[in-house]
Amino acid sequence: MDSNKRPETMERITTKALADAFIDEQIAAVRAQVGDKKVLLALSGGVDSSVVAALLIKAIGKQLVCVHVNHGLMRKGESENVIEVFRNQLDANLVYVDATDRFLDLLAGVSDPESKRKIIGAEFIKVFDEEAAKLDGISFLAQGTIYPDILESIKQAEGKKAVKSHHNVGGLPEDMAMELVEPIKLLFKDEVRVVGEALGLPHAMVYRQPFPGPGLGVRCLGAITRDRLHALREADAILREEFDLNGLAEKVWQYFIAVPDMKSVGVKDDSRYEGWPAIIRAVNTTDAMTATIEEIPYAVLHKITARITNEVEGINRVLFDLTPKPTGTIEWE
Ligand code: XMP
Repeated sequence: MDSNKRPETMERITTKALADAFIDEQIAAVRAQVGDKKVLLALSGGVDSSVVAALLIKAIGKQLVCVHVNHGLMRKGESENVIEVFRNQLDANLVYVDATDRFLDLLAGVSDPESKRKIIGAEFIKVFDEEAAKLDGISFLAQGTIYPDILESIKQAEGKKAVKSHHNVGGLPEDMAMELVEPIKLLFKDEVRVVGEALGLPHAMVYRQPFPGPGLGVRCLGAITRDRLHALREADAILREEFDLNGLAEKVWQYFIAVPDMKSVGVKDDSRYEGWPAIIRAVNTTDAMTATIEEIPYAVLHKITARITNEVEGINRVLFDLTPKPTGTIEWE
């Protein structure tokens, strides 16, 4: 039987009881596969790798070594949250690497989006490899592959063209001589979330909106600078906070800020104030291939605008992107 094919008889995991049964099954399978050997996992903080981590912690405890690489392009509070949940709450074996300077130094002056993606992806693998080399006796590599990833790679093998190189920062070199552990590879995203909740992961982590592997790197448009990246991160945190407060986080599939590399003239405290615009993107979609624009109440938009322009150094305007996909892609780069 092809282990990468979901059996037609496999029931869709929609309830806690079904998730618990799946978890028990996978714990037994992982223990049988791994024995007393060590397993390495790149833990990005995304839904898939977080669920794999929680599952493996249940199955093999400290035999799992999680490595979280902070590439400096995470959203506000995200790496801290990974440390809080996995190290402090789940007592995981977690290696935290702050590689911010390495990534930002390499990205300095690079404005082409695909070059930025390639640099981030390649450097991620390098940092992860270096960390892996420091560890002794690792025999297995765990991955948060899910069923749509398998279906997507079949499509790619059939020669369909991609619009952007969507490599996940987590894609690892093929020459890593380790056997794979992929406990959720036959699950769809909705099932992964049900399993994540059954494992006791925080709701916000399990229902986290999609976040691209290259992170804020493809939202700090053009050549990334530290000051503009900082402004973007702060503005994005305000947007997320206000969406949460106003019940929009559940209604909108993906929402974020992009900050272009241009300034306009504004006024603050009676003086000329040149600043960047913060662009709000808030879209709904089912498969990310097409997307529509969600109507956001004006009162919420006014509040977000007031907060961003008052609280974030360097931003003097807030814009709302009304473009569906097509013609705009979801991300600006
Ligand atoms: P686009 O911009 O192509 O995005 O309409 C569709 C979805 O994919 C996400 N995205 C990425 N995810 N690496 C990723 O892992 C990438 O380089 C990347 N680029 C876009 C995007 O956030 C949206 O959910």
